[in-house]
Amino acid sequence: MLNLLADGEVHSGESLGAALGVSRAAVWKQLQKLERYGLALESVKGRGYRLPGGLNLLSGEAIGTALDPAARELLRELILCDEVDSTNGQLLLRMEEGCGHGVAMFAERQTAGRGRRGRTWVSPFSGGINLSIGWQFNGGVQLLEGLSLAVGVALARALAEFEVPDIRLKWPNDVWCRERKLAGVLLELSGDLTDRCAVVVGIGLNVGLRGDSAAAIDQPWIDLQSVRAGIDRNRLAASMLNHLLPLLRDYPECGFGAYREAWLALDQFAGRPVRLQSANQAWTGTAVGVDMSGALILEADGEHKLFHGGEVSLREAP
Ligand code: BTN
Repeated sequence: MLNLLADGEVHSGESLGAALGVSRAAVWKQLQKLERYGLALESVKGRGYRLPGGLNLLSGEAIGTALDPAARELLRELILCDEVDSTNGQLLLRMEEGCGHGVAMFAERQTAGRGRRGRTWVSPFSGGINLSIGWQFNGGVQLLEGLSLAVGVALARALAEFEVPDIRLKWPNDVWCRERKLAGVLLELSGDLTDRCAVVVGIGLNVGLRGDSAAAIDQPWIDLQSVRAGIDRNRLAASMLNHLLPLLRDYPECGFGAYREAWLALDQFAGRPVRLQSANQAWTGTAVGVDMSGALILEADGEHKLFHGGEVSLREAP
């Protein structure tokens, strides 16, 4: 149904039923599901139904053909879902069952998308790219130090291929554009953190958020559509995999050191006054980059203090 309506044209109930080989009643049921997805289905009197503006749906075939040979080799399975609770949650389950390594899962919509620090990630149908990749590492979690920052660099590189302007990185793992958040990264770990452990790299990128869904976002945000319209989601999704899969393969050997210079060149807050907030403490000073492990360096009263990701949040100081 979605594939038929994705062209934005009017389709009669009859033609939809014929194309899908189902009854008018079944067509009606499926159309109701689209409304449940929050899609603005329009009923055109006497003619049928249409999705104004159409949809640029994710397609396994389109993503597959745009993959580099290296990414194609590393990708064990590509899963596309119309709707899940959370792609990170789903992949964590797979990792626990021992079948998540090299799996990439995209969802058009998440009903319980997870953000950092207990937040919800707003993921309306086809409004963004919601991606999780599972990866197994041997050698403990210390090998993954700085990984979330390196993922930010990989995303910035993917976006640069589409000439998205003004991309910056905000410590520890947001992609910003024009002083607002464009994408976020959430790493979740499972397994033995001292030895054989698994990471799920979750990425949420705003492509085109409709006003009603965006109302639920509680921080300044921006979407791709408002800075560079017309980017094909499938090509962008493939480019993200092209950058992320080799990164995951190589990270235990090269670590954050291989990404630090690139991260610093994109640092949103370099040299700016900032405020760091944990659950029960706050620090102010000047952000002066990150060290070799990805820890933020805060300069205050002539001294440098290091902050590691975790539960600290960063804001521009008033
Ligand atoms: C953040 O708070 O900045 C991180 C957001 C991460 C959202 C992505 S969307 C795909 C994956 N699945 C989830 O439930 N969360 C991540």
